[in-house]
Amino acid sequence: MAKLKILEYPDPRLRTRAKKVEKVDDKLRQLVDDMFETMYAAPGIGLAATQVNVHQRILVADVSDDQSQPVVLINPEIIAADDEGVSEEGCLSVPGIYESVRRFQHVRVSSLDRDGNQTEVEAFGLLAVCIQHEMDHLDGKLFVDYLSELKRQRIRKKMEKGRRDTATSRSGVSGTPSII
Ligand code: NI
Repeated sequence: MAKLKILEYPDPRLRTRAKKVEKVDDKLRQLVDDMFETMYAAPGIGLAATQVNVHQRILVADVSDDQSQPVVLINPEIIAADDEGVSEEGCLSVPGIYESVRRFQHVRVSSLDRDGNQTEVEAFGLLAVCIQHEMDHLDGKLFVDYLSELKRQRIRKKMEKGRRDTATSRSGVSGTPSII
């Protein structure tokens, strides 16, 4: 297994629309294992392939406290959703930012499992929110897109500043920040 690098906002690769998985094979299962390792190490409760720069429709999630409920969804599609509500979200690609987002609190999702079998998953609460958040990633969408432009600009500046500070402390040379 290998830990993968997580892309961070505003990296334009996070805007890529992922393609449907055509074949579930050992190579794909290896990617899924690596995604779990990356997500658990972060630590996070969900990760979309888009975030590790693989543009295929795969997401992993585990909302348990003890890594006991791993969920793999390949080519996920929401077939039923209800019970809208607002909850606070963060994202491994937008570290340190937490904002309220309105989502369905109950979804039923059709997908392939890690063996390539068609399956249906019913999710409530945190897992339902997490699945919708990760499915957005697969469409190149981030949770900050639900916020006002002003708020999003502020987050973008904060993220750029964070990156510049890190680069400076690592190299000892201050680069030109690209603040948009
Ligand atoms: Ni995310």
